[in-house]
Amino acid sequence: MKDFNYLMPTKIFFGKDCIEKNADVFANFGKKAIILTGKNSAKKNGSQNDVVLALEKNNIQYCVFDDIEENPSVYTVAKAAEMAISQKADFVIGIGGGSPMDSAKAVAFLAANNKGIDFLFEKGDAKHLPVIEIPTTAGTGSEVTQYAVLTVPEKKTKAGIAKRTFADIAFIDVKYFEKLPIKVTRNTAVDALTHLIEAYLCTESSFMSDILAEKGMDLFKECKNALLSGDINTEIREKLVLASTLAGMAIAQSQTSLPHSMGYYLTYFKNLPHGAANAQFMKAYMDFVTERDKVDKILCILDFKATTDLDLFFRKLVDRANYTDEEMNYYTDEIMKIPTKLATVSRDITREDIYTLFKLSKN
Ligand SMILES: [Fe+2]
Repeated sequence: MKDFNYLMPTKIFFGKDCIEKNADVFANFGKKAIILTGKNSAKKNGSQNDVVLALEKNNIQYCVFDDIEENPSVYTVAKAAEMAISQKADFVIGIGGGSPMDSAKAVAFLAANNKGIDFLFEKGDAKHLPVIEIPTTAGTGSEVTQYAVLTVPEKKTKAGIAKRTFADIAFIDVKYFEKLPIKVTRNTAVDALTHLIEAYLCTESSFMSDILAEKGMDLFKECKNALLSGDINTEIREKLVLASTLAGMAIAQSQTSLPHSMGYYLTYFKNLPHGAANAQFMKAYMDFVTERDKVDKILCILDFKATTDLDLFFRKLVDRANYTDEEMNYYTDEIMKIPTKLATVSRDITREDIYTLFKLSKN
């Protein structure tokens, strides 16, 4: 067996009303919080109100930055960090999907060090404010990963920041997911499935990440029909949330691979939702990797006969994007500049290989 390290220090509170039931936890992190969230969903699904009540119960002051957009830009994060610094926030609370949760980790670093956004992309550990994450979509798994992905307009793509930290606490309450539109439910569920598959096939996969990925795929299989029909009951939501959390824990040990790197371009240039963008490349990627036993195991757990069937499933659930030859060449050149991502695949990769993966994945 391969050597491995295992670290997942986030304390998870899972269950209905878990914030209200564990409100005293917030008192451990200071006297002033900054809440990062998007414009609407955290207000509509009740999560923001539950957090505010918990803070008030503990006499913790708070400020709210609710301008986190989808695929947040580094400049948005810098603005939020300015607020955290000027308000002297002791800790950061991210509420929402991957965008606010990833932003919370980035703000935690910027505020603690009073630095500009370049600091986020400099390697090396650094102090940071404590982070509490409350997911309200089931896909990103950011509440249990050390990663934060931000849009970098200068690079015309999304990029993971070099500064990494896990959240101290994650509150996962399925009631916040109940009213998610079916389109968001599907796109985020597909993101979670791509995490499970990429974590499983990645060169950095380990005994531990494989266990997490296999159980996550097992749960996901039980949600396939509901995702197709759109009839998502509470039990299915719970399974999707847990599959997403297990997927996050799996990529925290391993990491994502080529479909995520390739998908970032379709999200940036074509506005294709993140999960859908990864899914577009999954068949070509699974056919390309050398871990054939593991590909077979994935198909077996998910109950698909072949990668073609998985691809068909994705096509029924989420949109795809088209791109030109010129765009393919540009995307390929950019990906070839990221050796760490190429190293997630256990075979030598040429420029021609990446180009072919793009070509095979066109509509
Ligand atoms: Fe993802």
